[in-house]
Amino acid sequence: MGKALGYKEFGGADVQEFFERPDPAPGPTEVLVRVAAAGVNPLDHKLRSGHGTALNGHLPFPQVLGMEAAGTVLSVGDEVTGLSVGDRVTGFALTGAGTYAETTLLLGESTARIPDALPETWAATIPVAGTTALDVLDQLDLPSGASLLVNGIGGGVGSALAQLARDRGLVVTGTAGPAKRDLVTATGATFVDYTEGDLARRLRALAPDGFAAVVDNVGGESLRTVATLAAKQGAVISVGDPAVTELGGEMVLRRVDRANLERVAELMTTGRLDPHITRTYPLARADEALALVESGHAPGKLVLDLSL
Ligand SMILES: NC(=O)c1ccc[n+]([C@@H]2O[C@H](COP(=O)([O-])OP(=O)(O)OC[C@H]3O[C@@H](n4cnc5c(N)ncnc54)[C@H](OP(=O)(O)O)[C@@H]3O)[C@@H](O)[C@H]2O)c1
Repeated sequence: MGKALGYKEFGGADVQEFFERPDPAPGPTEVLVRVAAAGVNPLDHKLRSGHGTALNGHLPFPQVLGMEAAGTVLSVGDEVTGLSVGDRVTGFALTGAGTYAETTLLLGESTARIPDALPETWAATIPVAGTTALDVLDQLDLPSGASLLVNGIGGGVGSALAQLARDRGLVVTGTAGPAKRDLVTATGATFVDYTEGDLARRLRALAPDGFAAVVDNVGGESLRTVATLAAKQGAVISVGDPAVTELGGEMVLRRVDRANLERVAELMTTGRLDPHITRTYPLARADEALALVESGHAPGKLVLDLSL
């Protein structure tokens, strides 16, 4: 048995509750993991709210929150290769199995061993924010020296993007609220406060011929504003808002395989990517962490640390 935070119906934060559940048994393509740390992400509250039923609408309740975790393998499904009991790993959870929990099921093909030097709190941020940032840059494939605008640069995906883009020699400008000025400038990006007036005019002044590409982490009206700032129509990728296709842009193409997780782990251990974890929470306070992410203005990356 282990503690977990989940929900028995779709809804707001009030439907969340802690409960005890038996350790789930891994199917042939899954691994059972003792969770050491779990990333807290916007998708977690979207799935709880019923805004992602293509992913979890068919699953039985209770469902447990959380999509990514790092921990230690407790047992391995028959068809899983390359992973053994006792391995330290990071990976994507089976949807609904959740990672705001003491044990969970990770998908064998979307789980990777992690280097000894990598703390589990860092490794827990690899599957969602880390690989998404890498996927965006792979998809854009910009040459060194190209200009990149990152809308919402202060969040989990944005701050990873800022660092990996600089690592590729891109010249990065990013929008964030005033509280994130230091976080953004520490990545080498030019900080632009989106809460001040006429954002489009101020960004255009920085790139009169347009940015080589625009990446959006915010969506909605904010996406519509920044989509006009690309040098070429369509050089816009959104990670969260499918309406980007109506503007001639594309959604990020996600790769959730083991090799991509290993690439991000390597970027972390070689000092090129810091997940900017600003707060860690014990499992018993996971609801507080998710509420902060749900506010839309979390200060950097939030992680559950089950050793607390
Ligand atoms: N497709 C995928 O596989 C995938 C993967 C990861 C994430 N996503 C999606 O991508 C989005 C971002 O994820 P995340 O993990 O980076 O979220 P996050 O860590 O919660 O960050 C969101 C950021 O948006 C900023 N923000 C809010 N309103 C803004 C505005 N008008 N202009 C500029 N910045 C603004 C907030 O910073 P301030 O405090 O400065 O406002 C916050 O730092 C979410 O919708 C998520 O679901 C999709």
